[in-house]
Amino acid sequence: MRSLLVTGGAGFIGSNFVRYYLESHPGVRVVNYDKLTYAGNLDNLRDIGENGDYTFVRGDICSRDEVLAVMKKHETDAVVHFAAESHVDRSISGAAVFVATNVLGTQVLIDAARERNVERFLHVSTDEVYGSLGREGKFTESTPVHPNSPYAASKAASDLLVLAAVHTFSFPAIVTRCSNNYGPYQFPEKLIPLMIACAMDDRPLPVYGEGINVRDWLYVRDHCTALDAVMERGRNGEVYNIGGNNECRNIDIVRLLLRKLRKPESLISYVKDRPGHDLRYAIDASKVMGELGWAPGVTFEQGIEQTVEWYLKHEPWWRRIMSGAYREYYKDMYET
Ligand code: NAD
Ligand code: TYD
Repeated sequence: MRSLLVTGGAGFIGSNFVRYYLESHPGVRVVNYDKLTYAGNLDNLRDIGENGDYTFVRGDICSRDEVLAVMKKHETDAVVHFAAESHVDRSISGAAVFVATNVLGTQVLIDAARERNVERFLHVSTDEVYGSLGREGKFTESTPVHPNSPYAASKAASDLLVLAAVHTFSFPAIVTRCSNNYGPYQFPEKLIPLMIACAMDDRPLPVYGEGINVRDWLYVRDHCTALDAVMERGRNGEVYNIGGNNECRNIDIVRLLLRKLRKPESLISYVKDRPGHDLRYAIDASKVMGELGWAPGVTFEQGIEQTVEWYLKHEPWWRRIMSGAYREYYKDMYET
């Protein structure tokens, strides 16, 4: 592969992936194609700078003409598709943009990639498409999709469109479904960075319901190495679950973060639960581990330690998001 198109590379996982990929695959040209919604932040890649190997192109995955133009200009031969609306709470407040970006945008990309004869299309999805588990069991690749939030439903729809293109047109695509990620550059509306930011300002930490919901956490760099393995050695038409076998209740994560930051538990504030809040996610990742030889590189303890350190060291990064300044800086590039 010579020219990789990364959609949504200015977001949390996409920017970590761009950074990881440039380091580990010198010589491959990486084009980051991103609309720069509220979640896209060029601060995430500021130190990389554009050179022969890396180019940023501002564009919308819903625009067929723009997508085709970028693929043509950069002779794209593989796509890693991260671009999405990604926050469950926002999808509950307004689902339309999730359908537009996650469903229609994905179909536009599939059509363009087929037209351009792209050799590999990696669709980055989520374990949330499987819905909620009770206390027992794990999601395998053959668990039926049963999405419960508008976000999860829009991602499930996009997965099915990708798999339908594989079946109908022998489109060379793979779907990955990963558990909750954490690590550097995560937008502070998601649990872990939000709790760190609140704790550092001695503001209440809003825990939904009783805090007993369980998520299966994976350090973002380990997600990137898994995607790399799937790109290199995965089989077309397959779904690969990705997860680090690390289930944790929300309240236990919040307490752990408070301990690490030396802040009192009295900051915890139990608030109204999220409507339709999924109780538990847990990933069976034996397929990606057994078939592709992937394994996470860090334990949860190491990953959380590195994450807390990163947020402490990069306070200006998240403060610029909290204040909205990250959008001011690139005003000409963001929509009003
Ligand atoms: P994010 O919200 O941080 O980033 C999304 C990026 O997509 C942003 O840079 C945004 O500007 C861009 N984007 C949005 N709409 C666009 C459009 N129409 N055209 C072009 N770019 C657009 O999301 P994230 O947490 O990095 O997640 C990335 C992907 O990984 C998503 O597809 C998500 O469903 C999936 N995923 C996320 C997690 C997680 O824990 N965060 C877990 C599993 C899977
Ligand atoms: P989140 O980071 O939004 O990811 P997802 O909903 O995609 O799993 O939330 C992770 C868990 O944390 C989820 O169970 C909801 C909970 N949560 C809170 O308790 N308080 C908060 O302020 C947020 C953002 C999430």
